[in-house]
Amino acid sequence: MAEHQREIARRRTFAIISHPDAGKTTVTEQLLLLGGAINIAGTVKARKSNRYATSDWMEIEKQRGISVTSSVMQFDYHGCVINLLDTPGHEDFSEDTYRTLTAVDSALMVIDAARGVEERTIKLLEVCRLRDTPVVTFVNKLDRHARDPLDLIDEIENVLKIRCAPVTWPVGSGQHFDGIFDFRTRCVIPFVRGEQDPRVAGEQVPLAQAITRFPANMRALQEEIELIEGAGTGFDRDAYLAGTITPVFFGSALRSFGLRELFDMFVATAPAPRPRATNRTVVDAYDQRFSGFVFKIQANMDPHHRDRIAFMRICSGQYTEGKKLYNVRLGRYIQLANAIRFMAQGRGATDSAWAGDIIGFHNHGTIQIGDTFSEGESFKFAGIPSFAPEMFRRVRPTDPLRSKALIKGLTQLCEEGAAQVFSYIQRHDIVLGAVGMLQFDVVAWRLQYEYAVDCVFEPIQVQTARWVTADKSAEIDKLRAHSANYLAIDGAGRLAYLAPTNVNLQLAEERWPEIRFSATREML
Ligand code: G4P
Repeated sequence: MAEHQREIARRRTFAIISHPDAGKTTVTEQLLLLGGAINIAGTVKARKSNRYATSDWMEIEKQRGISVTSSVMQFDYHGCVINLLDTPGHEDFSEDTYRTLTAVDSALMVIDAARGVEERTIKLLEVCRLRDTPVVTFVNKLDRHARDPLDLIDEIENVLKIRCAPVTWPVGSGQHFDGIFDFRTRCVIPFVRGEQDPRVAGEQVPLAQAITRFPANMRALQEEIELIEGAGTGFDRDAYLAGTITPVFFGSALRSFGLRELFDMFVATAPAPRPRATNRTVVDAYDQRFSGFVFKIQANMDPHHRDRIAFMRICSGQYTEGKKLYNVRLGRYIQLANAIRFMAQGRGATDSAWAGDIIGFHNHGTIQIGDTFSEGESFKFAGIPSFAPEMFRRVRPTDPLRSKALIKGLTQLCEEGAAQVFSYIQRHDIVLGAVGMLQFDVVAWRLQYEYAVDCVFEPIQVQTARWVTADKSAEIDKLRAHSANYLAIDGAGRLAYLAPTNVNLQLAEERWPEIRFSATREML
């Protein structure tokens, strides 16, 4: 196989999706330990809380001790190059979280065994579903009291509408957690209490011997194995790659137990960079010609320079230092120098990267989210949408003379994806929309420090937004005439319906069947 083919085939680009506190950070850390990218557990956590001491990145991060932006960690495992994209989770949940999922080829879903499927997981899985992203599931915290595993599987299947194919299965939980049964080897891997090295393989106890060794849990286990095997949802790689089935593993990330089995199977079965749709054709990752798109802009890494880092997912070919790339939106070539590679241990310069990798470029606002780069072809990658905001504030400057500066600041911040701005067609109100609360603070902070605009955010009776389109423009005209009060123009000039309640939205959808009310908008 040529180097080109080999390099791309060994890329695995994925993100972890979970509800806050299910264990995303702990799982990340275990994967980095498995890959030898870090040596001691606690490194990622420590970085999470300490990095602000050394970084002069936004004040707001220091004050809150949280990360506003997602990052990328690259490391090797079993001959594969892993690109793990972090999805901001707690208060720093934002549209970046959603958009990061458009840049991956697969996802790892972490579920708390005591809590089951939670709200944030439901939303994130919906986003994965937009592109039929394959998902592997880890049910975490089995070292604590957990819910019945059959119940959990049922819940995943019913709430998330994805079939489960258990690959491992828990033998008890909490104080009575004896280990996991592996359906592939039909062996029990005993749970060892105390510090473990995740890289060391566990003991394999054949089922017949496990019966005498773990008598308390064996009856239940045998019944469960029978039920699961009887149901016949075995692992089927094609169904996994199509996003209709999820292989499920159980364990405890904190106790370094159960993730090795998952990760070994992950590197063997998770997709390498996949073909990507554009508005013209489908681009094959193995195409020799370079292409990629920008899914995130991180601003003000250094407040002394107003520069921004654009995060680009390479979709095909190879990036080499000095290559001139064509920005399709601008219709011209730009020289992108000094690409940054994001490694688990930090970031550094790179002179070469392949399809599947994420690279960063400094720029001063020329690059926007959704931008496609190519070697001259003028296609645009599809499926990098804006997501309907779920929180809204009316925004006005404290000094009315700063209105123009406010609009300018908001326009630029919205181009970067910091939040979304809407202007009512009938009123002067400007509305800011976000999916996470912190986005409002970020916008207020940046308006103040970068654009010298002090502004006030006020609550407003808007529950949700939908972009409206129709095949016949007459339909939109009728809607404008009838419901102008709810209509606004977003930062990209698209018409949106700002619904005061979900019931109002539902009624509008029923009343205007010819109009599409979309929760996502392509950034083309
Ligand atoms: P997140 O990134 O998804 O928000 O979750 P994180 O990994 O930070 O884990 C949330 C809490 O759950 C942490 O406890 C963590 O130690 C704990 N946890 C993660 N995996 C397991 C597990 O397998 N078993 C048990 N028992 N606990 C687990 P914390 O008390 O909030 O934080 P810390 O004091 O441990 O840092």
